[in-house]
Amino acid sequence: MEYDDGIKVVVANASHEKYVDIILATITDSAKKRGSGIASRTHEYLATKMRERKAIIALAGEEEEFAGFCYIESWGNKEYVANSGLIVVEKFRKHHLATRIKQTAFTLSRLRWPHAKLFGLTSQAAVMKINTSLGYVPVTFAELTQDDAYWAGCGTPEKPCCINCDILARTGRKYCICTAMLFDPKDHEGEPLPVQLPPDVVEMAQKAAKMNLR
Ligand SMILES: CC(C)(COP(=O)(O)OP(=O)(O)OC[C@H]1O[C@@H](n2cnc3c(N)ncnc32)[C@H](O)[C@@H]1OP(=O)(O)O)[C@@H](O)C(=O)NCCC(=O)NCCS
Repeated sequence: MEYDDGIKVVVANASHEKYVDIILATITDSAKKRGSGIASRTHEYLATKMRERKAIIALAGEEEEFAGFCYIESWGNKEYVANSGLIVVEKFRKHHLATRIKQTAFTLSRLRWPHAKLFGLTSQAAVMKINTSLGYVPVTFAELTQDDAYWAGCGTPEKPCCINCDILARTGRKYCICTAMLFDPKDHEGEPLPVQLPPDVVEMAQKAAKMNLR
């Protein structure tokens, strides 16, 4: 589907580091408004994601106003890949921008880690809808990565990030408020990717896949 709204959705690079502070502020502000906790991410962490070409940014108009973002992380020795930190600036919501950002992150993830299972945790209906359209299905937490570093993002009762992390701890990481969703590439062999990425990005991703990079 083509969108004629002047918003471009691109795989970020080092030139986008100037947007990191506004991205972090927008994520923090939105979490405060929703009354939810949030995994703490530093300026350096997001800037590194951009440099490694593991982030997607949406920019509006000729002045390239920040409109949305997400980044990609691999877990458990690249067996699992998650798209995290999805945010759309309030005034740009409900125009399928998150859909476009997630489609781009999904396409990049599939090219770069073709054998990885893609997963996410979310309590947002919009994200569940988008994930479903990409081929994700709801699963139990047991089917996700057991990499402790991933779960550290939710926090612990002693060092909370998400306000519900006490539930996660109490259930031994089996249940929580979020729904777990998983895309298993084995169930989708030969299916087309949702968007087309520029040739240089495709080349970069395929090269990284061949070299089995993180
Ligand atoms: C969640 C969020 C990213 C959605 O962004 P968005 O650009 O408005 O989403 P989209 O327009 O692509 O919506 C995708 C679908 O969800 C629906 N949707 C959007 N917001 C919704 C809401 N609040 N409740 C229910 N459905 C919603 C849309 O109608 C669309 O459905 P359709 O494809 O059938 O038309 C945005 O609201 C946001 O940044 N929220 C705060 C941060 C956050 O919650 N991040 C996700 C953490 S997992």
